[in-house]
Amino acid sequence: MRSHLIGALALAVLLGLPALAQEKPPEKPPEPAAPVTQTTPPATAPAAASATPAEPAALPACSDCHADQAKAFAANAHAHGQIKKGEVPNALCESCHGDGKAHIEGGGDKEKIFKPAGLLGSNKTCMSCHDISNDRISRHAGMHANSAVVNCLTCHSIHSSEAHAPHLLAKKQLTLCDSCHMTQVSSFRNKPYAHRIGRGGMECSSCHEPHGRPGAASLRTTSAGELPCLGCHADKRGPFVFQHGAIAVGDCMTCHEPHGSSNPKRLKRSTVSQLCLECHSPISGTTLGSQPPSFHNLTLARYQNCTTCHVAIHGSNRDPQLLK
Ligand code: HEC
Ligand code: HEC
Ligand code: HEC
Ligand code: HEC
Ligand code: HEC
Ligand code: HEC
Ligand code: HEC
Ligand code: HEC
Ligand code: HEC
Ligand code: HEC
Repeated sequence: MRSHLIGALALAVLLGLPALAQEKPPEKPPEPAAPVTQTTPPATAPAAASATPAEPAALPACSDCHADQAKAFAANAHAHGQIKKGEVPNALCESCHGDGKAHIEGGGDKEKIFKPAGLLGSNKTCMSCHDISNDRISRHAGMHANSAVVNCLTCHSIHSSEAHAPHLLAKKQLTLCDSCHMTQVSSFRNKPYAHRIGRGGMECSSCHEPHGRPGAASLRTTSAGELPCLGCHADKRGPFVFQHGAIAVGDCMTCHEPHGSSNPKRLKRSTVSQLCLECHSPISGTTLGSQPPSFHNLTLARYQNCTTCHVAIHGSNRDPQLLK
């Protein structure tokens, strides 16, 4: 996170200063700021409350001094429908930075403009428009709820999101999550049996709603509020006439590793029999499931790969022994 901040500062120096140096004083006479034609009602944004219809003609606009930021903003979702004929209205910038009049009158006095950063910036700025809490998403619940460690601005970067990282993400998703969850990311990278992640199709957010949802397991479900696996492997969900008891007592993670595994089929155990015998021990009274009938001679290789016979391991509509 610290390096992110330093990065942002470095960027400010790299991008901001040369632009300012070039354009101070502006080459062409400053144009009057465009009238406010904001489609996003700034009423919800306290920061934007001051948006005045027009600056006095003598004052330069944000875009006169911050040409780089203004230019780059054309592609930003926040500018949707607000930039007409290349004209960037001050009100757009002020929707996050607050009233810029004193800053402009002070010739760019940086003490007189709000730069959203950290928890304060997230709460004051982002949440003024994005404070969603419905059944699909919650900005307040879960471990990613705004805090000093994790907040909107640790994951999103309004002016300098990384190329090819959609949704204004500060970094590509895998790299972003990696900055705090090395174990899970390296598991995907290093384990031989894992979903292919970060290569254009699947992302961490295929299984996790990164903002959290209402409720306790807030981040452990998808945006749709489902157990992560079912959206794509619906065939394993059932309902089956003969459900495998293992799924009834647990879930997919009873047998599979979600972040990749050293074992084929992403199983938790290196052999199938090991997995099954944890619940179907031939020693009576010790486990959850029934005992394999005695003709199962477990010393024979033939019986060790249980799923050669119990093929419908996720449930069957035809056979209670999951044989077909
Ligand atoms: C007259 C030129 C000028 C205008 C017009 C102007 N700025 Fe600035 N702005 C500056 C200068 C100079 C700095 C200081 C750069 C530095 O020291 O890094 C600055 C800094 C900033 C900063 C960074 C503050 C910080 O704490 O680092 C923000 C944010 C900002 N301006 C936003 C705006 C917005 C929004 C507008 C329009 C409402 C605007 N500026 C209009 C010249 C201008
Ligand atoms: C959706 C909110 C939002 C809008 C709209 C917005 N900014 Fe920013 N701005 C930020 C945030 C957040 C930062 C802090 C750096 C970062 O995380 O990107 C920032 C930082 C800056 C800085 C400081 C340099 C830097 O990169 O740290 C300047 C200058 C600036 N903005 C100018 C502008 C101008 C000019 C506009 C209008 C074209 C504008 N901003 C519109 C959110 C916004
Ligand atoms: C003035 C209200 C307002 C403020 C303040 C605001 N946003 Fe937004 N934001 C919007 C709107 C409206 C959209 C949707 C734009 C669209 O649909 O094209 C949006 C879209 C986004 C998106 C999605 C972009 C995409 O390409 O999918 C992200 C991410 C985002 N905002 C983050 C932030 C962050 C972080 C902040 C705080 C620095 C912030 N916003 C402040 C109104 C706001
Ligand atoms: C832990 C990192 C993280 C944090 C913290 C975070 N986001 Fe996001 N955000 C993401 C990711 C990843 C996506 C892309 C999700 C996807 O691809 O489905 C995203 C997408 C979005 C979007 C566009 C898609 C949508 O869900 O509407 C908006 C808007 C948004 N974030 C706003 C915010 C705001 C506001 C905050 C602060 C309250 C915030 N985010 C905090 C990681 C984060
Ligand atoms: C700035 C650091 C940071 C970033 C970036 C981040 N997280 Fe987290 N995340 C946390 C913290 C702190 C927790 C709380 C538990 C912990 O310490 O692991 C957490 C917890 C989680 C949990 C566990 C929730 C639970 O129920 O146990 C999931 C899942 C998660 N994050 C997914 C993601 C994903 C996916 C991304 C990338 C989009 C991401 N995180 C990016 C800091 C971060
Ligand atoms: C295939 C779906 C899937 C993908 C992709 C996925 N996760 Fe998970 N993740 C899960 C499930 C399911 C759990 C809950 C495990 C449990 O309850 O036993 C989980 C749990 C977690 C936890 C909580 C601690 C733990 O390990 O149980 C973190 C943190 C986490 N995931 C981060 C990530 C990150 C970061 C990524 C992207 C690199 C990611 N996940 C990708 C399904 C997924
Ligand atoms: C976004 C869609 C998606 C989600 C969510 C998802 N998977 Fe997958 N899964 C796939 C695709 C596509 C494949 C085939 C390509 C591959 O092997 O990565 C696959 C393959 C598999 C395989 C077969 C591997 C093999 O060697 O044949 C297993 C086991 C698996 N997934 C388990 C899970 C589990 C458990 C979850 C939940 C934690 C889950 N999947 C969530 C898309 C998904
Ligand atoms: C009782 C343990 C167990 C549970 C619980 C379980 N699986 Fe499996 N799964 C297996 C075994 C064993 C295999 C390998 C089958 C084989 O050897 O052909 C497998 C294979 C798979 C495969 C790849 C082969 C195929 O048929 O497509 C996918 C995908 C899969 N499981 C998804 C899931 C999902 C999703 C869930 C949760 C609904 C789940 N599994 C729950 C044991 C389990
Ligand atoms: C988490 C524990 C668990 C695991 C692991 C598990 N099972 Fe089960 N299994 C059960 C439960 C519980 C039942 C339901 C009824 C019972 O057996 O008492 C069941 C039912 C069955 C049945 C149906 C017969 C019956 O008694 O209803 C077969 C066959 C079966 N399991 C085979 C397997 C195989 C093969 C594996 C390994 C791929 C496996 N099980 C892994 C818990 C488990
Ligand atoms: C060669 C094929 C074959 C293999 C391999 C096999 N089974 Fe079976 N299993 C069967 C048949 C056939 C039945 C049904 C017997 C009956 O109907 O009485 C059965 C029944 C069962 C039952 C149900 C017992 C009950 O009370 O209904 C369980 C549990 C079971 N097997 C577990 C396993 C486990 C665990 C393995 C791997 C260690 C395994 N099986 C390997 C053929 C096999």
